Amino acid sequence: MAFTFFFRDIHTIEHIVRHVVPFAAGRSVVKVWDAGCAMGPEPYTLAIVFAENMGKFAYKNLKIDATDIDGSNLFGDIIRAGVYPYEELQRIPKELFEKYFLPDGDGQFRIIEPVRTRLAFQKHDLLALKPIGDGFCLIMCKNVLLHFSHEQRIEVIKMFHAALAPGGFFASEQTQKMPKELAHLFEQVTPDAQLYRKR
Ligand SMILES: C[S@@+](CC[C@H](N)C(=O)[O-])C[C@H]1O[C@@H](n2cnc3c(N)ncnc32)[C@H](O)[C@@H]1O
Repeated sequence: MAFTFFFRDIHTIEHIVRHVVPFAAGRSVVKVWDAGCAMGPEPYTLAIVFAENMGKFAYKNLKIDATDIDGSNLFGDIIRAGVYPYEELQRIPKELFEKYFLPDGDGQFRIIEPVRTRLAFQKHDLLALKPIGDGFCLIMCKNVLLHFSHEQRIEVIKMFHAALAPGGFFASEQTQKMPKELAHLFEQVTPDAQLYRKR
């Protein structure tokens, strides 16, 4: 089920700002993969957080690949349009909402163009185990792996490991612990979040 919302899991976002942004900011291309992105609130949250914390020039180098198996065949259209009803935007801190969203009629709001252009959606099945690219600074995969078997989780996380840049980061949800079989591949950045760094 594609349940999602903007600024979900602020705690992990704060750790991303602290650890991932400084790692990414100096690179000529900052690649982020949001795997299992649903209708886009999560990758757009990342885009806003990077915009706020990265500096204008580095932000121009940001490219977020948002992927989902997208059973509804709609997520790509929603993400490309970047238009959401106001009820779905109420968790966004007020100053960020006012800075990054413009009214679009009928109680809807549209994410501003400089943020929309940082995102590209593609349909992708994680269980095909074919990465969409490599050299990612951050791969975020939240509230997706819990639907997979333990063996599938291991294979998908191994794929993420191969797709990360040296020293790149992998983030999952609070309840999704790293399988012990993969502990040698990653270092947990902080004990209170599922944020890992590629060894
Ligand atoms: C609960 S939503 C999570 C959305 C977002 N990551 C979040 O945490 O707010 C789970 C998403 O995983 C996607 N999904 C399920 N199986 C998948 C697969 N094999 N490959 C890619 N995406 C998948 C679903 O389509 C759905 O959009």
